[in-house]
Amino acid sequence: MTRGCEKEYEGRPLLATMGLDGDAATASAPAKCILFGEHAVVYGEPAVAVALEQRLQVRITPAKSWSIDGSSLIAKRHPHIHHLVHALWTNTSEPKPLSVHVTGDIPRASGLGSSAALSVALCAALDASRMNSENCLDSDEMSHLAHLAEATAQSGRASPMDTSTSTLGGIVVLSDKKEDGCQWVFTRQLDTPEGRRTWEIHTLTPPQDDVYLVLGNTGVHAPTSHQVALVAAALEANPERINEIRAIGSISRRGLKALQDGNYDAVGHAMSENHLILRNLGVSSEELETLISAALPTALGAKLTGSGGGGCMVALTRQPKETSEAIELAGGRTLISRLGNPGATLIAGPKETFWSD
Ligand code: MEV
Repeated sequence: MTRGCEKEYEGRPLLATMGLDGDAATASAPAKCILFGEHAVVYGEPAVAVALEQRLQVRITPAKSWSIDGSSLIAKRHPHIHHLVHALWTNTSEPKPLSVHVTGDIPRASGLGSSAALSVALCAALDASRMNSENCLDSDEMSHLAHLAEATAQSGRASPMDTSTSTLGGIVVLSDKKEDGCQWVFTRQLDTPEGRRTWEIHTLTPPQDDVYLVLGNTGVHAPTSHQVALVAAALEANPERINEIRAIGSISRRGLKALQDGNYDAVGHAMSENHLILRNLGVSSEELETLISAALPTALGAKLTGSGGGGCMVALTRQPKETSEAIELAGGRTLISRLGNPGATLIAGPKETFWSD
């Protein structure tokens, strides 16, 4: 027997059917990599992200006290988890404690959306642990909750880029308007310290080609909240720098068109151009520059991905082995992925609901 969620979103069953696993719920969600538009997307400019092959699994079981991987769960250290738990627990009592166990191959704090994947997978697992046919979440509701959790952790400045990509999978396009040639999925709004932002979220299925993404990890941790605040401070000090944000927006639009046409040479070119502006904005680092320079001779294009300051760069390439070797020789640790992979998946749910009053 399997328990399953009846809800579908745009024909996309998020939690279609699942296996049973005693008193546990397990869900997984993919890492993401931004091809165009990081930072600018926080200010409403378009951006494109890809769900990667690398994933994270969250398994939850009932427990006497809250823990994550054997350590106490501290609200200050895990603000997104704290936010999600309280958002999904609808009763007035304190949420029943759970033991949360996280596994997977997404490097943490490296710009690949590990915290969004954790929020999304945890959201799916929590939902399964209290699921009945009325309350199960669809992908819109799930990515919305995960987005609010990310915004809480990023002082109110978070685009829905990471959480939408991790929820929906494939290739996700965010824009301030509905984009032609993409499948519109939902609208997202957030009140940020700089005012209300609205994003239209789409998915895109570009023509297939034999291209790969090689991610190069600098091993340097730079928190997203810090990097996002750095850009906000630069704009406050010099409001004219909004032109750099807008320039990233027009490159994203050009890159999106190239993706829709299956013109991967032009996609790579736009990625490299996008990087130059990010560098100028002050969000690159010496380590990122070294890995990007190493990748470029065998790649169609390369840039930092995510919030920068450290973390990862990404190269689009037809020669993944050569590009990966060049990045490793320059001191980076690499991951290789094809473009577009499945989104949030419920792997197993409990025989009986265990997370309710
Ligand atoms: C982080 O992966 C991407 C940023 O644009 C922040 C955000 O979109 O919330 C830097």
